[in-house]
Amino acid sequence: MKKIIITGGAGFIGSHVVRRFVKNYPHYHIINLDKLTYAGNLANLRDIEHNSNYRFVKGDIVDIEFINKLFEAEKPDAIIHLAAESHVDRSISNPLDFVMTNVVGTVNLLNTARHHWRGNYDKTRFYHVSTDEVYGSLGETGMFTEQTAYDPHSPYSASKAGSDHFVRAYHDTYGLNTVISNCSNNYGSYHFPEKLIPLAINNIKQNKPVPVYGKGENVRDWLWVEDHARAIDLIFHKAAAGSTYNIGGHNEWKNIDLIKLLCRILDRKLGRVAGESEKLITFVTDRAGHDLRYAIDATKLKQELGWVPSITFEEGLEKTVDWYLANEDWLKDVTSGHYQQYYQEQYANR
Ligand code: NAD
Ligand code: DAU
Repeated sequence: MKKIIITGGAGFIGSHVVRRFVKNYPHYHIINLDKLTYAGNLANLRDIEHNSNYRFVKGDIVDIEFINKLFEAEKPDAIIHLAAESHVDRSISNPLDFVMTNVVGTVNLLNTARHHWRGNYDKTRFYHVSTDEVYGSLGETGMFTEQTAYDPHSPYSASKAGSDHFVRAYHDTYGLNTVISNCSNNYGSYHFPEKLIPLAINNIKQNKPVPVYGKGENVRDWLWVEDHARAIDLIFHKAAAGSTYNIGGHNEWKNIDLIKLLCRILDRKLGRVAGESEKLITFVTDRAGHDLRYAIDATKLKQELGWVPSITFEEGLEKTVDWYLANEDWLKDVTSGHYQQYYQEQYANR
């Protein structure tokens, strides 16, 4: 019997991790701890919310007293920590929010775990979910390995790098049983439409301009979110204490090529004339400090734990577009209210 607190379980990746653990491990108790910021949405978990091994707790990982009481009451065996401010553009406008949640919130969880799990570090686990952005930006060649030196450029990636350093410090200094994984860009269902793929799908669908930063030459390495959740499951159960794994899809795309592919898929699915959606592509002012290229070398994960992505990008994108077309209500809900104001502010002067 294991009791696991999954933080950020109402967000994009967190909801897939919660769903996977609730369904695959009926003998575990899964507690989803989430503050429900703009990015947290309990509608992402409707299909499992009544399962007897699942419970939602609303709370802020920065709140010292609340986290301490939660540990006292629940006595968890493990944490899988995904709660974060996750959008680079928002980190440029509001860096302090990122320092609070990503750095202070993570240290608060580590510190509480250190006290509550003392004497039991061999039976407990702190799994920290991180990003490839901590490694900085690549030129035309090369890949990030687990040995690549950290070189973050945005307030978001700097805050994630800071949290990774604290996780390692708690392992090296106190012997806490920690694991870190650094993953490339995810895509799939329940992805909030501030990020490139769901934003482009939503705008193309609505015949609105599709904003491409700079010349669209930046490269990202895309992974289907359910393959990320499967990797987290494997690493959580099998990794050695203090270890790090890179997770990635070996699937690099220039932004402009990816957007054109999405336009073609949507032309076909919406019955538009070929080439119609591409007319919506609009080049806008580049993101400040925009990293040119990310690419993950996931050899260690493949060799040690046998993980490889389960589907191709073409299959994953088809599934993703189909999901957004079939879930109009979800999309409408998350793009009403505050989203409109956010969109105005982010894109008005680009
Ligand atoms: P998301 O923004 O969709 O979800 C974040 C969740 O955290 C939300 O449910 C939000 O309500 C919750 N949260 C935020 N602040 C909180 C706080 N103070 N206390 C409690 N809960 C809080 O993020 P995501 O894209 O699902 O990313 C999840 C994790 O994976 C993050 O740590 C991110 O850095 C990492 N990651 C994301 C990607 C990606 O492509 N999206 C890739 C690699 C790593
Ligand atoms: O690499 C992992 C990271 O991927 C995660 O750690 C982050 O949480 C996640 O948000 C994502 O970061 P990116 O900045 O790469 O993702 P985003 O979807 O914001 O942007 C992808 C690329 O598309 C990037 O080069 C910027 C560009 N872009 C983005 C938006 C929102 C555009 O050209 N137009 C847009 O409107």
